Amino acid sequence: MYESLFQPLTVRGLTLKNRIVFAPTSMGLKSGDFLAHIDRIARGGAGLIVIGDVPVLPSPMFSLYTPEGLDFYRQITQTAHAGGAKISAQLHMSDSDVQGLQRYLPDLRAGRITPDNLRRKLNDMTGDFITGLPVERIQTIIDGFGQAAILARDAGFDMIQIHGDRMCGSFSSSIYNHRADAYGGSPENRARFAVSCVQAVRRAVPDMPIEYKLAVRQEDPHYGNAGILTDELPVFVPLLDAAGVDCYEVALANHGALTDTIPPHNHPYFSEPGCFLKFCDLVRPLTNRPLCGVGGLGDPDFAAAQVDSGRVDYIALSRPLIADPDWPRLVQNGQTDQIFRCVRCNRACLGGMQQHQGTHCVFDEKRRAARGE
Ligand SMILES: Cc1cc2nc3c(=O)[nH]c(=O)nc-3n(C[C@H](O)[C@H](O)[C@H](O)COP(=O)(O)O)c2cc1C
Repeated sequence: MYESLFQPLTVRGLTLKNRIVFAPTSMGLKSGDFLAHIDRIARGGAGLIVIGDVPVLPSPMFSLYTPEGLDFYRQITQTAHAGGAKISAQLHMSDSDVQGLQRYLPDLRAGRITPDNLRRKLNDMTGDFITGLPVERIQTIIDGFGQAAILARDAGFDMIQIHGDRMCGSFSSSIYNHRADAYGGSPENRARFAVSCVQAVRRAVPDMPIEYKLAVRQEDPHYGNAGILTDELPVFVPLLDAAGVDCYEVALANHGALTDTIPPHNHPYFSEPGCFLKFCDLVRPLTNRPLCGVGGLGDPDFAAAQVDSGRVDYIALSRPLIADPDWPRLVQNGQTDQIFRCVRCNRACLGGMQQHQGTHCVFDEKRRAARGE
């Protein structure tokens, strides 16, 4: 019944053993806990693990550019491989105005503004930041995508995911991008930054598969501020294809509430299983590249039906694999009754991250007890 989920998928010479991906998920865990989590997910049977938010440029966070950072990423890739999974680096370039942010830090520390309010203020500053970014800086960032891809390959990653949200998404969006040069104005111009980043990665690592996280925004009702407007997908997708994208993960664009892109079960609009698949349906006629669905795909019957019908070629799960890393193994063995199913409460996963406690699941204790861990 679930055979389609366990068919191998080959992308630019890389064969994934099944169609199940651990979606990019920043976990805010200390390095030992993070490695343990990756180990658990790999041993649970996911074919591919995407490491979220790997910085494109040198950064105070763990980055590919320092010996310690590179060594940590090497440990991550070795852990995934030892557990039988392939591993991808989500190359991420923030579009936050870090200098603008400084002026709010005293208020944040004193509790005068909440992290949510700060996030809103940062989103509000995005337009000016993207519109005013000097061309030399843009070129440095584009080159950084290529350089980071080489370092990711050296660290043992099998694949690159380009984060099509954040800076790529802000350049794509007429809401944020008001530039009057070659990077702004028409949809073709607004696609130029993302296309150049893809080209830089393709040139740097010609043999590595590139997945693009296609961040889609919609009007009526309005959701997502960065990303590609549904009506402009016919311009963007062929350009990204031609630049060297091998496959797409399709999701809602960000820069609104985090609960829109990570929707809880009671979200006013995205509460249904497979809530973002309608965007895959829009992309499907525009490319022959494999498409990955994400968002509320934790029910194995529903997920398998989407692959069976060809609506998507593979699926990405974030919260369902946080709730139960053994999801793939249990589905393959027909033991779906033993899965701890994500209820999309967002309490310990997104909530844990927001409270700086790391990403966990409300079912952790029960699951560990049930599995004797
Ligand atoms: C704690 C947490 C952290 C996330 N971090 C990232 C990230 O770093 N990059 C990204 O593109 N998406 C991130 N996401 C979004 C997920 O990849 C996914 O698109 C979203 O959770 C919907 O899928 P799900 O219903 O399977 O959880 C994160 C989600 C969660 C819950």
